Amino acid sequence: MSVDLEKLLAAAREVAQQAYAPYSKFRVGAALYLTNGAVVTGANVENASYGLTICAERSAIVRAVSEFGPDIRIIGIAVTNLNGSASPPCGACRQVLSEFATAEAQILFSSTEGNTVVPFRELLPFSFDKKYL
Ligand code: THU
Repeated sequence: MSVDLEKLLAAAREVAQQAYAPYSKFRVGAALYLTNGAVVTGANVENASYGLTICAERSAIVRAVSEFGPDIRIIGIAVTNLNGSASPPCGACRQVLSEFATAEAQILFSSTEGNTVVPFRELLPFSFDKKYL
């Protein structure tokens, strides 16, 4: 199943406009491509208690599980922001993604070099996962 990263990026850009980011003014959008063919998006949702902020990637994952259930598999992800700066997924989001993303999932994020595309296994090597439990 091939991943249309351009389409995913457009979806990420669009959903970033829905972000609730009054504190950082850094509006992020994420779009996931699932093995069932669905594209699921999410935006960051900040909080006056800053640490409770939910990143766009996790927002999208929560939405995908709520919509399609616990067996979702992510094979593509695009992340971007409306500030024109780099948007690599944060460490917490990488760990949460590791629960659902395949090792070969294509991850696209805007970076200082334009767009970067890497397989998930390069984004989070040595991730902690259920095989250790
Ligand atoms: N943010 C994301 O949505 N995703 C990331 O991977 C990194 C950071 C959000 C959180 C916060 O609302 C804003 O960007 C600034 O950190």
